[in-house]
Amino acid sequence: MAQQFADPVGFSTRGSRWWRDAVIYQVYLRSFADGDGDGVGDLLGVRGRLRYLAELGVDALWLTPFYRSPMADGGYDVADYRAVDPGFGTLGDAESLIQDAHRHGLKVILDIVPNHTSDRHPWFEKAVDAGPGSPERDRYIFRPGRGELPPNDWESVFGGPAWTRLADGEWYLHLFAPEQPDLNWENPEVHAEFEDIMRFWLDRGVDGFRIDVAHGMVKAPGLPDAGHTGQISMLGNAELPYFDQDGVHDIHRSWRRVLDAYGGIGVAEAWAPNAERLARYVRPDELHQAFNFHYLQAGWSAAELRRVIDESLAAAGSVGAPTTWVLSNHDVQRHVTRYGGGWLGARRARAAAMLMLALPGSAYVYQGEELGLPEVTDLPAEYLLDPQWGNGRGREGCRVPIPWAYTEPPFGFSPPGGGESWLPVPAEWRNLTVDVQLRDSRSMLCLYREALRIRAGHPALGDGELRWLDAPEGVLMFEREPGLVCAVNVGDEPVRLDVPGTLLLSSERMKDGKLGPDAAAWWATVSA
Ligand code: BGC
Repeated sequence: MAQQFADPVGFSTRGSRWWRDAVIYQVYLRSFADGDGDGVGDLLGVRGRLRYLAELGVDALWLTPFYRSPMADGGYDVADYRAVDPGFGTLGDAESLIQDAHRHGLKVILDIVPNHTSDRHPWFEKAVDAGPGSPERDRYIFRPGRGELPPNDWESVFGGPAWTRLADGEWYLHLFAPEQPDLNWENPEVHAEFEDIMRFWLDRGVDGFRIDVAHGMVKAPGLPDAGHTGQISMLGNAELPYFDQDGVHDIHRSWRRVLDAYGGIGVAEAWAPNAERLARYVRPDELHQAFNFHYLQAGWSAAELRRVIDESLAAAGSVGAPTTWVLSNHDVQRHVTRYGGGWLGARRARAAAMLMLALPGSAYVYQGEELGLPEVTDLPAEYLLDPQWGNGRGREGCRVPIPWAYTEPPFGFSPPGGGESWLPVPAEWRNLTVDVQLRDSRSMLCLYREALRIRAGHPALGDGELRWLDAPEGVLMFEREPGLVCAVNVGDEPVRLDVPGTLLLSSERMKDGKLGPDAAAWWATVSA
């Protein structure tokens, strides 16, 4: 049923504004592919799977941190930003991966972590040794306590107070784990260091950075109390004195100048209270994209999805930026499970993928969503080591290794004879391996491949405008010019939609011309 278009390759990767409609695949390195057989994913493993990614049809990879790290937070605690952790490979492996990815037509985006370092970073080790009042301590946020109490009431995103006390009585701030001390972005040395780190990787050919906690570096002057407990539940909904402060935009402006000198892009992982605040990160002289977590958080309801889509497009459009669409990542429950789990969750996830890929802008695919992987909710207790458990919920369930082939765990994640995978892969995933899905034209993987193939070649998809069409209740229907209509039935009854045109792709087989519940379809239409 799919129709071939002119320009089947490269529409979205061509030109200097490739990022405006790129489909970017998130590689969570520890769980993607293990090249050396130690049970943990690595750079060698990714190199071996580049062909898979090119054939999937994505435009770019975002690699989660591979820098030297004690792994208190899966690599988001960096001890050396210019070195590769030996568990992930060598600097040479990173350089080869960047070159190989480019040869496959894939851009490479690295994760940079500027809000905090590891407590084993030489700067922090020196700060601890140097003592109160020293220039070494000024690179971080050290303060005296209030008597025996921490300097203020801020809470860590991972639970508990955001302050830890040293033996000499001073406290240091860590918005995440105690092993992740926050840097002091009022110190010019910190600015100079991060610009230098960016250049280090840009000189090695990377195409941009995903900026971790891009809303976090600047804190309200005087570090005032937040005034309530349960602050983490306010993340992304309300104002907090340590997130989304206006001053953070000066940092992004200075990085934009560095990025522009190389033609690289910056993607903000920013949690802001609303779409307008988020759009500030992608003003013309700031970053290129920001993850749209409001879309990720939207429930499976036509009204809610439409509201978030409209707000997102309006806010990004007001500053001339493209919108991004994200359904899952390594920090949240996988969307098959969020959408109800089992066959229902998988069915909705198929429709959600087609909706996301038809919307204007850039889309993110988190490894394994193209296989329809669910959250693993029954991992044995000994594997649950994520620092976020301090806040009541860990993230291992969305980080389980990718099942590639064969019939037994870990399903080709490690080479034959390799060690046990760092998280066990459920035996039921034997039906979800890449190999199995490639042999079944109705699989999630084949749906993603087909949708991405059509998207790459169709002039209406990617960057541009959307026009809503009248549709029965519970149905989202819109037109993309020239000549594409997308409909998603979020309701629970089949609906007849009289779309004049040819069906290009549907997430479920259409019966008697009707689009079933929790299903989506794309039609090629003839423009008037
Ligand atoms: C990353 C998380 C990490 C945190 C602290 C985030 O937003 O995505 O995985 O734990 O930053 O670096």
